[in-house]
Amino acid sequence: MECFEIKGQKKLKGVVSISGAKNAAVAIIPAAIVAEGVSVIENLPDIEDVACLMKTLNALGAKCTLSDESTLIIDSRKVKSYIANDESVRKIRASYYLMGALLGRFGHAEVALPGGCNFGERPIDQHLKGFRMMGARIDTSDDRVIKLDVNGRLHGANIYLDVASVGATINIMIAACRAKGRTVIENAAKEPHIVDTANFLNMLGANIKGAGTDVIRIQGADRLHGGEYTIIPDQIEAGTYMICGAVTGGDITVKNLIPKHMDSLTAKLEEIGCRIIEGDDYIRVISDGRLYPTNVKTMVYPGFPTDLQPQITALLSIAEGRSKVIENVWETRYQYIAELKKFGAKIEVKGREAVIDGVKELSGADVSATDLRAGAAMIIAALAAKGVSTIYNIRFIDRGYANIESKLCMLGADIKRVAVEEKPDNSEKAQ
Ligand code: EPU
Repeated sequence: MECFEIKGQKKLKGVVSISGAKNAAVAIIPAAIVAEGVSVIENLPDIEDVACLMKTLNALGAKCTLSDESTLIIDSRKVKSYIANDESVRKIRASYYLMGALLGRFGHAEVALPGGCNFGERPIDQHLKGFRMMGARIDTSDDRVIKLDVNGRLHGANIYLDVASVGATINIMIAACRAKGRTVIENAAKEPHIVDTANFLNMLGANIKGAGTDVIRIQGADRLHGGEYTIIPDQIEAGTYMICGAVTGGDITVKNLIPKHMDSLTAKLEEIGCRIIEGDDYIRVISDGRLYPTNVKTMVYPGFPTDLQPQITALLSIAEGRSKVIENVWETRYQYIAELKKFGAKIEVKGREAVIDGVKELSGADVSATDLRAGAAMIIAALAAKGVSTIYNIRFIDRGYANIESKLCMLGADIKRVAVEEKPDNSEKAQ
């Protein structure tokens, strides 16, 4: 296995370019097989979750070829199987999108229960409710595989989501593209990658209107074809680097992002004392090292994203005073706090609230990434800390951050990927 060794307290400076959005890529790749055609997907992030999905699609009979490291060609014409049950399916969360894609295309799907980051219960009842309302029968008697099938073809339905779920919105949208008639999703989630997936499906010939608002209307099509599409920049990767700049008292320009997607974070960084300069496709974050406390509540988009909650908590751990963070999306997304405390952070968690009393300085520590964004928070703390830190379980980080150590090195961080024989005890959390 590998770990990161980071020597902290280097002020980051320079320019970092953001890759394609992970959570758009992991929806768009499975969505490609709802069509019979050849899709060319550009600006793909070079991450483990993408590699995993390519394996899964190939196992179903699609032909996935990387024409360069960020361009994927998916020929979905030869997909014959509707059974996605191999190890790569179980490894990642987004394999649940295969349910919508296979059910929409074949009227049948058998998909292994999704894995992914384990920071508490991650139900998919809203996905299944949507499929059921479109006429699917669902068999959950096997606790490792979900079986879905419909007599003939799915039909359109009016679906009100009890929670504005990103996954359910996208999954229902994918399936509804091939349903007979019109589907309306109410209380839909509005995250940028939902709009991106809808744009991709429309490029394949689907008819989706309203993505990015809380009512999405989809007119089903008999056939969809291939086409070319470029994935949007990763909002969360961009935010993570912006926070890296802030925590080190640095001056960095994060380029190839969509500034509008970053509004909730830029507002917070300004409150915390950073200077922000925005251009058309970049944001410069300048910090003189003095950080002020603030309060953060995670919300669905355009609110502050839960996927930046661990990172901003790490930043606030060295702000001058008391900050509060309230996690409204994933009730138990605080498993990483115990690791953050190893750097000397002072944080108390009660239910959904974390109270952070900023300390003057963090000290280097040996910690583990308990999940993807928790791993990013460990890097942020290590960049700020005095001395050397070692971060184990970095396979979680590799799932979602493309070339993270080379990007950080370019900004002047002292970070090395090191092979280690053994992980320290208690470092592993189940996927
Ligand atoms: N929920 C339900 N029932 C459902 C689905 C969700 O009750 O059927 C609840 C969840 O328990 C949670 C809330 O609704 O409290 C939001 O869940 P959502 O379905 O929106 O999350 P997701 O689709 O499983 C995606 C991202 C996550 C990100 C969340 C929220 C992907 C592959 N994952 O998950 O990303 O945290 O949306 O924005 O797109 C990450 O990138 O690190 C990550 C975990």
